[in-house]
Amino acid sequence: MTSTHEGEIPVPNPHATAEQVEAARHDTKLAQVLYHDWEAESYDDKWSISYDQRCIDYARGRFDAIVPDDVQRELPYDRALELGCGTGFFLLNLIQAGVARRGSVTDLSPGMVKVATRNGTSLGLDVDGRVADAEGIPYDDNTFDLVVGHAVLHHIPDVELSLREVVRVLKPGGRFVFAGEPTTVGNAYARRLADLTWKTTVRAMKLPGLSSWRRSQEELDENSRAAALEWIVDLHTFDPVDLEKMATSAGAVEVETASEEFTAAMLGWPVRTFESTVPPGKLGWGWAKFAFGGWTTLSWVDANVWRHVVPKGWFYNVMVTGVKPDPSPLTSFDRAGS
Ligand SMILES: C[S@@+](CC[C@H](N)C(=O)[O-])C[C@H]1O[C@@H](n2cnc3c(N)ncnc32)[C@H](O)[C@@H]1O
Repeated sequence: MTSTHEGEIPVPNPHATAEQVEAARHDTKLAQVLYHDWEAESYDDKWSISYDQRCIDYARGRFDAIVPDDVQRELPYDRALELGCGTGFFLLNLIQAGVARRGSVTDLSPGMVKVATRNGTSLGLDVDGRVADAEGIPYDDNTFDLVVGHAVLHHIPDVELSLREVVRVLKPGGRFVFAGEPTTVGNAYARRLADLTWKTTVRAMKLPGLSSWRRSQEELDENSRAAALEWIVDLHTFDPVDLEKMATSAGAVEVETASEEFTAAMLGWPVRTFESTVPPGKLGWGWAKFAFGGWTTLSWVDANVWRHVVPKGWFYNVMVTGVKPDPSPLTSFDRAGS
């Protein structure tokens, strides 16, 4: 049932040349496309993304953490849109979790749209895909009941413009949910921990006897070209209060933010960085169990202990939701009479 707007999807470019990387230094949207086309085919493995119960629960957990209970009781939404879908992690898992019936997965990177629609097809979901810039969403006003995004707002140059576009394509009364955005404080400690892990691991791998843990020079060169782009594609971090103000001035009502992952992020970032420095598959099932178990335990501690002590803006992830105003909401009396 899944389809793409074939005519509109440019061919992905997964191997950026040094010249293209140089050009992308001055063109953030070219950088987004090169970097994410490069990542697309290996993205699910890199971030341990799956479409089974583990990630269905994770996606639904993010949705439930910010959306009011009465909305959760009335699910599913009919038609949903995902911006910056990557491989489809958020919307495909939300559809499987019963949040929406059908959806459109969109991204600036053709490589990502290709993988997301392929994932939707293999899951048998009612999903179509399109290359789309979140600053100019190529859909008519009042089209969707729900718009979602995960880890995308911080890549968009003009976040408020994009939120205005989100409000435009939502039907009156429709809702948006963006999760997985880095806070300003969280990003500072996460980057520092990730850098330290990268430097220590690369140095350790040079020790005699560890050659089987080293990645080939070719892979490392390609990785560092892509890593050069990573600094260009990450444009913002957010203070939760500023994000609320932006969503409100974009025209949304009922705007709320929530944040999560404090000690969990302090474990998660070094773990993910370590995983990316060693050959794929080298760490095995035991490591995956340790990483996921550790992250789950610390997330519980964050939600149940640190949340009461630490300010919202110190957590690593912030999420935001809001609603498109409905100028003529039907009262229950109107509904009964119609
Ligand atoms: C960090 S990835 C997140 C992917 C996915 N949502 C996830 O959580 O796994 C950010 C995605 O946003 C896309 N992106 C960046 N700028 C964009 C823009 N202006 N419009 C639409 N997508 C964009 C990138 O191509 C990339 O796929």
